[in-house]
Amino acid sequence: MGDLLVPLYTLPEISKKPEQSWTIRKPIPPEKYVITEWVGTHFSKQWQSEVEVALSQNPASCLIAVEDNQMIGFACFNVTALSFFGPTGVSEKARGRGIGLQLLIQSLLEMKHMGYAYAIIGSAGPVDFYKKAVGAIEIPGSEKSIYQGMLR
Ligand SMILES: CC(C)(COP(=O)(O)OP(=O)(O)OC[C@H]1O[C@@H](n2cnc3c(N)ncnc32)[C@H](O)[C@@H]1OP(=O)(O)O)[C@@H](O)C(=O)NCCC(=O)NCCS
Repeated sequence: MGDLLVPLYTLPEISKKPEQSWTIRKPIPPEKYVITEWVGTHFSKQWQSEVEVALSQNPASCLIAVEDNQMIGFACFNVTALSFFGPTGVSEKARGRGIGLQLLIQSLLEMKHMGYAYAIIGSAGPVDFYKKAVGAIEIPGSEKSIYQGMLR
């Protein structure tokens, strides 16, 4: 898996669905323990570490998706490296409803407003998701990514 490049000057409009029962918002510091535990349980220790770094910033370098007062997804940016989007994830039960797309576009919009022209998705898993959603392109030679040799 290589890295992807996303132009931030051609981001699609993102509209809230009328029937939408979840919100996408910035977390606040007292929620840190809930969010980091959730990410560790649903995904991995590595992503838990990254979300901890995101939540150590104020304002946090991440967004969360919440439904019925429960966390159902998250997205981080400027955490693994400056200009990087990710990690991101939606709980298995909540996938396929447009939540991952909203988390992605709202995060990329925040990066655009910070002054970035491009974002990088490091070692992207669902490449087709990013290509279709935000016109991401593969970065040649990026297979040796920033994660190379990472301690586990
Ligand atoms: C990738 C992920 C965040 C997408 O979240 P989601 O809420 O299910 O995605 P959405 O419902 O917003 O999907 C938006 C569109 O992308 C498509 N899509 C979603 N996941 C996809 C995938 N893995 N591959 C290709 N297309 C995908 C959907 O079909 C949808 O298309 P449509 O608008 O034509 O219906 C979610 O599947 C996930 O948490 N995966 C595991 C963690 C992961 O891989 N994270 C990315 C690390 S780089």
